[in-house]
Amino acid sequence: MTDTAGQVIPDGAGGGCRPGQFARPARFFPPGRSWGMRLTIRSDCEWDMPGITVTFIDVNGQTRVIEDAEPGMSMMQVAKAHDVEGILADCGGACSCATCHVYVGDGWMEKVGPPDDVEEALLDMVDDVRQPNSRLSCQISVSSDLDGIELTVAPDPGY
Ligand code: FES
Repeated sequence: MTDTAGQVIPDGAGGGCRPGQFARPARFFPPGRSWGMRLTIRSDCEWDMPGITVTFIDVNGQTRVIEDAEPGMSMMQVAKAHDVEGILADCGGACSCATCHVYVGDGWMEKVGPPDDVEEALLDMVDDVRQPNSRLSCQISVSSDLDGIELTVAPDPGY
């Protein structure tokens, strides 16, 4: 293993981290120190934060529980990373295709919030399968507030 500067970190460096922690790269005394030895201390452990759980009901009705969603991702990105059936995301998250259409689970719509005007216009284009809890998953950001959310993939409107 090497650190960010390409220095080899010996086996055991960063050891002593507890389960759920990971070791940051080893630190070094600045050059010029006569004894310039490598130093790794226990405080080089950081907590490996658990992911956020998102449950998708895919277009075939299969339940997919994903426990490693990370804040900053969109729900569409989470679905694509786990090959959730029915999330095509043809536009890559540019809010211009509606192939990432989901229904937000009961009780979650208030936390997710309503679509903005651009998303609203796009949802109007899939009116045949639109519901009051429709959202485009590329426009929903993963956050700790949404830990445990359930999203059902909307059927393809067929046009
Ligand atoms: S990925 Fe195209 S609108 Fe969401």
